Amino acid sequence: MNILVLNGSPKQKSDTFRMTEAFLKGLNRTGEHTLHIVRVIERQIAPCTGCFQCWQRMDGHCVIEDDQNAILDLYRAADLVIWSFPLYCYGMPSHLKALLDRTIPLVKMQMRQEADGRVQHETLTDFSRQRTLVFCGCGFPDWDGNFDSLRLQCRQCFCNLQLVCVPEAPMLNVPQAAVVAEPLLERFEQAGEEYGRNLALSPETVARLETPMIPKEVYIRIVNSV
Ligand SMILES: Cc1cc2nc3c(=O)[nH]c(=O)nc-3n(C[C@H](O)[C@H](O)[C@H](O)COP(=O)(O)O)c2cc1C
Repeated sequence: MNILVLNGSPKQKSDTFRMTEAFLKGLNRTGEHTLHIVRVIERQIAPCTGCFQCWQRMDGHCVIEDDQNAILDLYRAADLVIWSFPLYCYGMPSHLKALLDRTIPLVKMQMRQEADGRVQHETLTDFSRQRTLVFCGCGFPDWDGNFDSLRLQCRQCFCNLQLVCVPEAPMLNVPQAAVVAEPLLERFEQAGEEYGRNLALSPETVARLETPMIPKEVYIRIVNSV
């Protein structure tokens, strides 16, 4: 598979990317994959100016000459795009959102209505074969609503999506929490193998990855005592 990984954490030592690395380790055991990892914070990606010149040129590129066009080429060619990022204010970090906004050159102005009533833009190339995985870590313990806006946005934006939202993610980089973090990373590794075999994660696997490492009350107590 041709895989594009968009690492959207601004940190060198990303909590979220630990999960993604473990997943890729398992996935790599299932065959020969071509991997492009983009550390988005290091790339020059200006915000979209809304000029829509891309919809006149229709060449899959943006008129702004920065690093985004090279990413668009990788994006278009990818069989699997993995978005790996921390939850920021209930969505994706702004530098990654700038990248997402600037995937607009990959669609056309023309719209179509799906069978379920949703209205979508026609795409420049056929993305129906492309798969998307979103791995999002966050600092809150699990609670209803924390990931709602992100889930909605991802469902609208991505093809063949599977989304894994992991609460209590800062524990993945705390040595004292290794006793609960390592088993989760092991589960991500196994999930990578499962994905390589089936091109999908079972609902049970997703549920196992999203299960908090420790109970909410304990996590809050630990955080508040630091
Ligand atoms: C600006 C900012 C906004 C954040 N917003 C949220 C949030 O809305 N919900 C949440 O649970 N955690 C939030 N967090 C916590 C991060 O998601 C958390 O620390 C995560 O583990 C960082 O992952 P990373 O190391 O991969 O960057 C926020 C952190 C920052 C710096």
